Amino acid sequence: MAERLQKVMAQAGVASRRASEKLIADGHVTVNGKKVTELGTKVEPHDHVEVNGEPIEGNEKLVYFLLNKPREVITAASDDKNRATVLDILSDVPQRVYPVGRLDYDTTGALLLTNDGALANQLMHPKFNIDKVYVAKVKGIPSNDDLKVLRLGVTVHTIENKRHKTYHAAPAKAEIESVDKEKQTAIVRLTIHEGRYHQVKEMLKAVGHPVLKLTREQYGMLDVANLAPGEYRELTYDEVKALKQGKQYRRSAGRL
Ligand code: URA
Repeated sequence: MAERLQKVMAQAGVASRRASEKLIADGHVTVNGKKVTELGTKVEPHDHVEVNGEPIEGNEKLVYFLLNKPREVITAASDDKNRATVLDILSDVPQRVYPVGRLDYDTTGALLLTNDGALANQLMHPKFNIDKVYVAKVKGIPSNDDLKVLRLGVTVHTIENKRHKTYHAAPAKAEIESVDKEKQTAIVRLTIHEGRYHQVKEMLKAVGHPVLKLTREQYGMLDVANLAPGEYRELTYDEVKALKQGKQYRRSAGRL
């Protein structure tokens, strides 16, 4: 439940409500890494509050998990169609974690979940440019020219919220991993740093190769090679540190 920031600070023993209001107004307080000076601000239990750079007491322990999201699970806290959610999979985790970004219902792969609002905001900011490696099974066999278009930045025409929309995707890394000439399908590895709705599916459709199956193999330096779909693990201290510092590395091979 959202609570007024000064109340949360007072409950955490920072100072009285009145004194907490002054700390806020004077710019000593950050929520999820952003300075807040407005007194009406409300915060959720998972928001990370710091006063003069120090986390306030009573804040939840910050936890970080990497899930290999299975198919037919939605990336949201709840669903009006009663479908399983990624939070159902992590129901044993006592902290209120939430997903960083999203994967489609039918997409599998690397999904980070945390209650660290500051890191989540940082990772989702377009400026942060975190690389995401997708492996897609596509219809047809993309030509070298198709790959070139993806590498230069393909133009996508799509419909979002019932409106036609055109955008230029940033240049992607695009490679063919294997082809099945008989079935006329191919496995394509695509590395992008943007995160638009259905972006990989739209990019591949734009070059004439609709996606049949999609998995996200890597999120920054995190990969799900050792996790079966539906499995998750806590990140190591070094992984969290590296994510915060924006470090990324890429593996060179993988399977859909
Ligand atoms: N791009 C997509 O099209 N779907 C996803 O789930 C993720 C990226």
